[in-house]
Amino acid sequence: MIEERDVTDLQTAVEPTAPATTDAAVSLHGVTKRFPGGKGSEPVVAVDAIDLNIADGEFFSLLGPSGCGKTTTLRMIAGFEYPSAGSIRIFDEEVGLKPPNKRPVNTVFQSYALFPHMTVAQNIAFGLEMKDVGRDETARRVAEVIELVQLEGRENRKPKQLSGGQQQRVALARALVNRPKVLLLDEPLGALDLKLRQTMQIELKQMQEKVGITFVYVTHDQEEALTMSDRIAVMESGHLLQVGPPEEIYDRPRTRFVADFIGETNLLDATIRDHGIAELRDGTQVRLDSHEPAGTAVTLAVRPEKLGLVRADADRNHDLDAVHGTVARATFMGNAIAYEVRIDGGSEPFPVEIRQGNAPGIEHFAVGEQVRVRWSPSSASVLED
Ligand SMILES: Nc1ncnc2c1ncn2[C@@H]1O[C@H](COP(=O)(O)OP(=O)(O)OP(=O)(O)O)[C@@H](O)[C@H]1O
Ligand SMILES: [Mg+2]
Repeated sequence: MIEERDVTDLQTAVEPTAPATTDAAVSLHGVTKRFPGGKGSEPVVAVDAIDLNIADGEFFSLLGPSGCGKTTTLRMIAGFEYPSAGSIRIFDEEVGLKPPNKRPVNTVFQSYALFPHMTVAQNIAFGLEMKDVGRDETARRVAEVIELVQLEGRENRKPKQLSGGQQQRVALARALVNRPKVLLLDEPLGALDLKLRQTMQIELKQMQEKVGITFVYVTHDQEEALTMSDRIAVMESGHLLQVGPPEEIYDRPRTRFVADFIGETNLLDATIRDHGIAELRDGTQVRLDSHEPAGTAVTLAVRPEKLGLVRADADRNHDLDAVHGTVARATFMGNAIAYEVRIDGGSEPFPVEIRQGNAPGIEHFAVGEQVRVRWSPSSASVLED
């Protein structure tokens, strides 16, 4: 559904000078969206001057908590919403002011919005019929996407005779049958239960690789984004905090927000003492892969599974840094054991979460035991803020 918008406001708002030519599928430059805030209140800045290039053929995810501006960004790429400022280019064509049907994109929403009285095949063919695509061509393309989304044999069912996952496949097929250059997906798996969602994540990624078109995927589920994406943009309050491949976002978060939002992490306050050396609050010195000047206060982020535990009296025959602590809690998790360790010293002891594998031969620790927590310098990220 296209919403009303103020076109006069738009023409002045969109930047007349386009950014330099790119070979990106989708390119956002200074894109901002302000919504009226209601009587007497300030406008809401839903998206704040974001710059972003999404490559052709990429599976790109916008990830962030509720209200951070993901849907608004997607709707501006789709054309359901016009930017208050900035430029949106799709394959190097300025589309910021164009209506949705004049853009080479299609959108799949969380709610499938299928026509209940039509069959699967009719639902999928509907868009092509509207566009006067011939009968044979329509039949061929419908059959092609039905195979792609694995709905063969269900062509003549009505939506209510399908499961949630199957209905979402129809919605997907209905978008893909138009052969968009970019497919926009807003939490398309949000209504499915966890197990089905995980299956669909893998299938969706495989489908995307098969058709080779650019997917822009909105989710607030970090695991989903990590599983499916070639690159992820982490958003907060209308800003892009970090853009990169899943491994980089996970292993090298640049800010506290990203470190906290993606997976679990331990945050340790430290002060840089020397080149590549930081001092923790308990006075322990640890090495770092970083080049901040001496005296800088930093926060180190280390993932629980990157931390190892040894007994306090174990030999120091390893090349890792270690801090002393006491096991405060041990939680059995099946293939792993999660430990909470209180680090000694400092004004207030702080807990550290450690996930240690539970394979035979791996040492276990009891609550109250004195231990050393260690990690390799390369597994600690130095956060900016
Ligand atoms: N039409 C609108 N009018 C006024 N404010 C809006 C409108 N649409 C969105 N907003 C506001 O803009 C901000 C971003 O909303 P948006 O829907 O883009 O968030 P989101 O990241 O998709 O969140 P969610 O994960 O909950 O779907 C929110 O503060 C929201 O309240
Ligand atoms: Mg949303």
